[in-house]
Amino acid sequence: MRQVEHIVYLCVFISGTTEMCGIWAVFGLTSNIHGQCSSTFYKISHRGPDAWRLEYDQRMKNCCVGFHRLTIVDTIYGMQPMKLHKYPSSMVICNGELYNCKRLAEQYGFEYETYNDVECILHLYHEFGIEECVKNLDGVFGFCIVDIAKRKVFLGRDPYGVRPIFKVLSETGVLGICSEAKGLIEIEHELKGDRKKVAPLPPGTFEEYDLLENGTVKLVRSKKYFSPGDKPAFRPFVLYEDLSPNAHTDNIRKLSH
Ligand SMILES: *[C@@H]1O[C@H](CO)[C@@H](O)[C@H](O)[C@H]1NC(C)=O
Repeated sequence: MRQVEHIVYLCVFISGTTEMCGIWAVFGLTSNIHGQCSSTFYKISHRGPDAWRLEYDQRMKNCCVGFHRLTIVDTIYGMQPMKLHKYPSSMVICNGELYNCKRLAEQYGFEYETYNDVECILHLYHEFGIEECVKNLDGVFGFCIVDIAKRKVFLGRDPYGVRPIFKVLSETGVLGICSEAKGLIEIEHELKGDRKKVAPLPPGTFEEYDLLENGTVKLVRSKKYFSPGDKPAFRPFVLYEDLSPNAHTDNIRKLSH
């Protein structure tokens, strides 16, 4: 039993230090969605995943949401797309680390169902909406939330763009997203005449889309929620109020005595 615990802790440690997962989703692709899913998924799984999952939901026609990870940590709760009992008609995929997930639970009374920091995204989104959600995240991330009940898709990226997230959106409303650009090349080809370039989602930005009946999407807004130099909206680990304007000179004085 001890040994198992140690192995689990070791895995958590390793996964916390390197990027070991990939996210992928496509909305509104009518031609051969299942073939697209598996072949593209294979392409971005080049490092050989230990676990992967593709989610297909009848309520979302022509859509597919996938995730792969290289280390199995907490096999039941660590997997994505993540769905919660509390919010059964939405899901999230995220490549990232959210440092303030515990603190957010204390601040807002969230009752977590898993041991995965990604869970705080769904709680924040359902409590406060997408804008307050991204602003409250202290970490590095690229995520996609699908709200099937409200028929919405949201993308978000961390303030400085530490974690990658690429997208391709066609004029006909086909949307592909991936943590690696090459996961979208095939979809771009599939869009033929209606071609759009694969591009990264800019840092500090979130996007909101309507998810139409046939699975295609319509961009509602793309908003830059953070620019370098802005004061973060989340509670920082050292409060600004606790920093006196002369803190540095006081400390220098202390050091020199
Ligand atoms: C999907 O539905 C929208 C809205 O009804 C429509 O404009 C669009 O042409 C449809 N796309 C396809 C590929 O059927």
